[in-house]
Amino acid sequence: MDYLREFIKNPKRTGSVMESSQELAELITKNIPSDPSSCIVELGSGQGVFTEKILQKMNKEATFFVLEINPFFAKETATRCPDATIYTDSGVNLKHYLSQHNITHCDTIISGLPWASFKKNLQKELLTEIRGSMKKEGEFYAFAYLHGMLLPSAAHFRKLLDTHFSNVKKSKVIWKNIPPTFVYKCRA
Ligand SMILES: C[S@@+](CC[C@H](N)C(=O)[O-])C[C@H]1O[C@@H](n2cnc3c(N)ncnc32)[C@H](O)[C@@H]1O
Repeated sequence: MDYLREFIKNPKRTGSVMESSQELAELITKNIPSDPSSCIVELGSGQGVFTEKILQKMNKEATFFVLEINPFFAKETATRCPDATIYTDSGVNLKHYLSQHNITHCDTIISGLPWASFKKNLQKELLTEIRGSMKKEGEFYAFAYLHGMLLPSAAHFRKLLDTHFSNVKKSKVIWKNIPPTFVYKCRA
């Protein structure tokens, strides 16, 4: 009910009426680095389903933080994942938070953002910030709803991925997720 309430309040920003499945969380966090010097960032944690997996898979010495724009969801993630560092802010301010951690570029960015709900200029602003915050060999993961691919905003996002990243791959579809979803794996 929490997702539904937040969706009714702000559908474009919330983008979903329920949290992602464990299957999607497992897939999108599959390549979390195990290096203690790595830096991992999550954007749009909701109730923390990806956050929980990232914390299980990352090296405890690594740097990890979350940017979640909605204070309600930031608190939900903090309750579920007390070991996570969570900032209540937009992904457009990613570089600012990296610099707070004395880091210029990070290794892995996991996105829980509802890209197809965003206006074109916000998609571009976020992707420019994300690309500019990644190491040369860095990786960016974002999910997309299968049915959303019919939307012009989803096609626009896909085109932006191609212009911002050297390599973009689509995963298999997670049919168990509601709605069915796949993951974009992007290399800087
Ligand atoms: C579709 S929900 C996904 C939540 C969670 N990752 C999951 O998969 O269940 C999208 C989340 O992104 C957050 N969000 C939307 N725009 C954002 C932005 N610009 N920066 C950070 N978080 C944002 C929303 O508040 C919401 O929690």
